[in-house]
Amino acid sequence: MNSILDNRPALKAGIWKVAEVAGYLWQKGWAERNGGNITVNITDYVDDALRALPALEAPRPIGTVLPHLKGCWFYCKGTQKRMRDLARDPMGNGSVIRILDDCASYEIVADAPVAPTSELPSHLSVHNYLIATGSPYKASLHTHPIELVAMTHAKKFLEKDVATRLLWSMIPETKAFCPRGLGMVPYMLPSSVELADATIRAIDDDYDVVMWEKHGVFAVDVSIMDAFDQVDVLNKAAQIYISARNMGFEPAGMTEEQMKELSDVFGLPK
Ligand code: 13P
Ligand code: ZN
Repeated sequence: MNSILDNRPALKAGIWKVAEVAGYLWQKGWAERNGGNITVNITDYVDDALRALPALEAPRPIGTVLPHLKGCWFYCKGTQKRMRDLARDPMGNGSVIRILDDCASYEIVADAPVAPTSELPSHLSVHNYLIATGSPYKASLHTHPIELVAMTHAKKFLEKDVATRLLWSMIPETKAFCPRGLGMVPYMLPSSVELADATIRAIDDDYDVVMWEKHGVFAVDVSIMDAFDQVDVLNKAAQIYISARNMGFEPAGMTEEQMKELSDVFGLPK
């Protein structure tokens, strides 16, 4: 079967990176059933021939107006599609969309009319914000990491930067590789525009990774692999915390002096 990825090696490689990460999410146990979603801004890989292709279906509304996305293209996981299936067949379990000139709707230009993720309002609102602020970030990841989600069931961890400080203090790599910490978004209905708006406020507060209370994480970075890595190091720290608690003690954590030394030597923000 012909694919829009044929003779487009850069686009193909970018989309297969998403497939690789989707496989990791499944292996981690973070992607039950259709859990989680990924979008990547692929505008740089789109050529004139792709731009000239007709849409597979009539335009669909985004649910919000995103002025900076005019003419942008995205790869999106399909709604109700499984990460473990996307890992071996990214074009059968995801699609390519282009944003129309009204900045309020999109069309599918792909191999099959796979409807994009239900979390599209959050993903596209965040991409709109990233472009508006001149960010080099191209990828956004929503996933359900077990230990991080478990922590959001305790009120104390929902307070600003309480979880961040705890997780950073579990192992030096956490602050080194997730230097902006973990933002917190209170529980809101999945897929809602309110959740999208709250996610942007948290990212604007200078976080790359934000928790959606009792649901999952939302992470942004230059590539999908980098976004995955930030979530991976944070969840590793959460696992270390929980392992210590399971052994019957509250972990001591690195001291303030050790954290400061780390930040000074590696030039980390905050
Ligand atoms: P989708 O299958 O629509 O991407 O939804 C999965 C999810 O995790 C919703 O929050
Ligand atoms: Zn989810």
